[in-house]
Amino acid sequence: MKFQKPVTPTILAVAAMLALSPFAQAQKNLDAEGHQWWQHAVFYEIYPRSFADSDNSGMGDLNGITSKMDYLQRLGVDAIWITPCFPSPQVDFGYDVSDYEDIDPTYGTLNDFDRMVEEGKNHNVRIILDFVINHTSDQHKWFLDSKSSKTAAHRDWYIWRDGKGPNQPPNNWLSTFGHSAWKFDPTTGQYYYHYFYAEQPDLNWRNPAVERAMFDVTRWWYKRGVAGFRLDAVDTLFEVQDLRDNPILPGTNKFGDPNMENKYNTKLPEMHGVLTRLRGVADESDAVLIGETWTKTIDQLKEYYGGHGKELQMPMDFLFANINRLSADEFRRQIAGVDASGGWPVYLVSNHDIVRSYNRYGDGRHNDEIAKLMAGLYLTLRGTPIMYYGEELGMENNDPKRREDVKDPIGRTGWPAEKGRDGERTPMQWNDSANAGFSTVTPWLPVPPSYKTHNVATEDKDPDSILNFYRHLLALRHTDQALLEGEYVPLNESDPNVISYLRRYKSEAVLVVLNMSAKEQKVNFDLAPQGFAKAKSTTLLTTMKPAPSRTEQVALAPFGVYIAKLAK
Ligand code: GLC
Repeated sequence: MKFQKPVTPTILAVAAMLALSPFAQAQKNLDAEGHQWWQHAVFYEIYPRSFADSDNSGMGDLNGITSKMDYLQRLGVDAIWITPCFPSPQVDFGYDVSDYEDIDPTYGTLNDFDRMVEEGKNHNVRIILDFVINHTSDQHKWFLDSKSSKTAAHRDWYIWRDGKGPNQPPNNWLSTFGHSAWKFDPTTGQYYYHYFYAEQPDLNWRNPAVERAMFDVTRWWYKRGVAGFRLDAVDTLFEVQDLRDNPILPGTNKFGDPNMENKYNTKLPEMHGVLTRLRGVADESDAVLIGETWTKTIDQLKEYYGGHGKELQMPMDFLFANINRLSADEFRRQIAGVDASGGWPVYLVSNHDIVRSYNRYGDGRHNDEIAKLMAGLYLTLRGTPIMYYGEELGMENNDPKRREDVKDPIGRTGWPAEKGRDGERTPMQWNDSANAGFSTVTPWLPVPPSYKTHNVATEDKDPDSILNFYRHLLALRHTDQALLEGEYVPLNESDPNVISYLRRYKSEAVLVVLNMSAKEQKVNFDLAPQGFAKAKSTTLLTTMKPAPSRTEQVALAPFGVYIAKLAK
């Protein structure tokens, strides 16, 4: 009989304490490698106004999303991030929230929300909401009270200051959406600060009452079944207290304002305290926090993970998304940097604020091949991918042609240099009927002509479509141990055209080879140093016909993708 150490009461007490602590809560549901659900999940961003229109209003809604759960599950999506669907005057299409604890009637009701969560559960699709943390709408009751008098209960919930003099704002700070970041309010004769539109006054995060109220909002939604939040614009939470002028840089921006270094109103260290405490609240519910983290360097990105993983689990790597050309070298450098950062990488190639990847990477001739190539890249890396709706179809931007058609206000302020973000927010392309099957009435934004070929129904029938490529790839991601758990091992690092790497896990690996050039390429591999010299290889997914037969030398068509399993 084996000797068993007696379990002492002290050990039992410590074990009981640990089981109850938030730490234990956050650590539950780990897999054998210590990974949590969100590390194996595929996230999918939905712009609710444009995804599915259940009541033919020309705008999407929550019931529309609920009706597409089968589609999402079959695609291989585990969590959807829905951009703001809360009551809002819709100046910034939902990013101006007037009530954090309800649903905007455009999108439905709280009952519809609950039904969506339920249907999501039935389809293993979790719901992530967008938390607009930096500012509210100017129609939020907090702001209406705040502006009513200098002694109002919510006065100090926003940032109010006297002007420097008559018609002179408190300092030179500019709104990222154009012109001064200060608006004069005649009721009290002071200015309020807004980093975004004037209808989006910044909350004063130095006021503990703001923090308490906002943290409670997240608790309210956790109880309703949300699995986490994408935190909007976290870089801009704090401003220096003395409101020093920012340094002016040479030249002007798209709005005709002087270029400026946002030194004293972005990325202030105080925000890390807020994020750490917000993470504490998230851990009570085993929730995940995703950050809209625009960083200039990997070191800045690292800060968002926080020491010992105590801040955001998933700060988005916009440095990766900002590589706007097919450069094997640049992608290799960026991936290696994030992979070594100590945090869990988060990759995306498009979202509702940036031109769709189909246009950014496409060369006009091989766009469909390039769409598969990019999927082959960001969906096979070690880390969590966030897709943008329609990327799986090869949806393209449909930018407005005339200023009067622009819906996004920055497109009107900045026209024609800045056309706004309408182009990347057009309705999801469900089939080849009018309005891409999104709506029987004219939708709020027009679909591009390519919807005739790039839509769910048409691509569903074509085994070589972008949609079916995504489905295969996502199925592999969910089942292959090396893709789930394997480390990232770069190969042939001096190849300027082809990016290749292994995802290596124990005695198996997946080899990924991606031709980022418009020319055929032949790549030789010596996998002896990685211990796979004599490995048996099986093709998992390729765009080449016929599939390459040997892994020692792989011949690739322009923008070709080859993904193979290696087993010792
Ligand atoms: C974020 C959102 C963007 C919005 C802005 C202001 O950057 O992604 O769409 O306009 O915040 O809330």
